[in-house]
Amino acid sequence: MRKAVLLLVLITFCVAKLPGYNVDIQETSVSGLSAGAFMAAQFQVAFSSTIKSSTIVAGGPPNCAEGNLSTALTNCMNIPTSINVNTLVTKSKNQSTSKSIDPISNLQGKKVFLYSGSKDTVVKQGVVKATQKFFELLGANVSTKYDIASEHSYVTPSNGKACSFLGTPYINHCDYDTARVSLETAYGTINDAVPAVSANLIKFSQDSYVSSGMSMNSNGYVYVPTSCKNGAKCRLHVSFHGCQQTLEDIGTQYVTLTGLNEYAESNNIIVLYPQAKKSQLMPSNPNGCFDWWGYTDTLPTSLKYATKEGKQMKAIFQMITDLASGSKAEAQ
Ligand SMILES: *[C@@H]1O[C@H](CO)[C@@H](O)[C@H](O)[C@H]1NC(C)=O
Ligand SMILES: *[C@@H]1O[C@H](CO)[C@@H](O)[C@H](O)[C@H]1NC(C)=O
Ligand SMILES: *[C@@H]1O[C@H](CO)[C@@H](O)[C@H](O)[C@H]1NC(C)=O
Repeated sequence: MRKAVLLLVLITFCVAKLPGYNVDIQETSVSGLSAGAFMAAQFQVAFSSTIKSSTIVAGGPPNCAEGNLSTALTNCMNIPTSINVNTLVTKSKNQSTSKSIDPISNLQGKKVFLYSGSKDTVVKQGVVKATQKFFELLGANVSTKYDIASEHSYVTPSNGKACSFLGTPYINHCDYDTARVSLETAYGTINDAVPAVSANLIKFSQDSYVSSGMSMNSNGYVYVPTSCKNGAKCRLHVSFHGCQQTLEDIGTQYVTLTGLNEYAESNNIIVLYPQAKKSQLMPSNPNGCFDWWGYTDTLPTSLKYATKEGKQMKAIFQMITDLASGSKAEAQ
């Protein structure tokens, strides 16, 4: 009897981990909106040996907040003239030297796509232009879209609210296909979208990757196209939601409405949607943002949050490693 219980516990634990697919980990790209975009930017820089390309929608450069929430809320959202990009470049070079992030030279020629709506009142366009300068100073191949009159949102061709609307679910339709541009930036020309298959959107337990105090939900989502389930060689895209876009706030809207799954299905791309959660105290993260100002660091802030040692960074990299663990690249 006791043996059976133990076995059951073991099985449950194993199933909780993400399964491995035939994914070439070097074909991993990232994207995100707002706090998720800060996360995508710091993820691109910290794991540049693995991450092939990134899309940053309304986000700033790594270490912008310098571990300080008030800097995050002022300079990094509203007062871009106070962002010292040269200092942030030096900071990243220093982190590269000390090996807390991958070699900064990897960013040479890396494709980075930046989007900022001309009507964005939450993260000013100047912040995204600071991100542009940051990546250009490090030699990345940067493309931008700044002329669509969208409010703070992930912009789609037809899903979500009106283009100029500010509010939940922070997905607006503006006759522009961010998902397509994002994936084409990473992978070149892609096939047209097809309907997503609802059974291919899988809820998984994040609990074997995260611990309490990390402000991460016990569940995350991953979209696995039928082809990838059947063993086809696939690529991996990770998309980080913004603040107030947690499962508590908007259910599965972020994981179903950006348009990424429809392109994923027709292009052999698995899409991982890590999930942060709201937390009032320890840490204080009432809007459920990914950590781009240091709330997961031990105090006085150890400034690890934007590095490979950052708690959320490390956990999400492990999810990527597990999803790619069925790679058959060696056999070919
Ligand atoms: C954060 O920055 C503000 C404004 O510069 C400063 O007053 C405050 O002491 C800083 N907080 C920490 C924890 O460093
Ligand atoms: C970078 O490292 C140098 C040498 O250790 C140090 O003097 C400088 O303050 C660091 N700059 C930043 C922005 O971290
Ligand atoms: C940047 O990427 C574009 C699109 O793939 C390519 O055509 C261009 O040659 C690249 N530029 C540089 C400087 O590598």
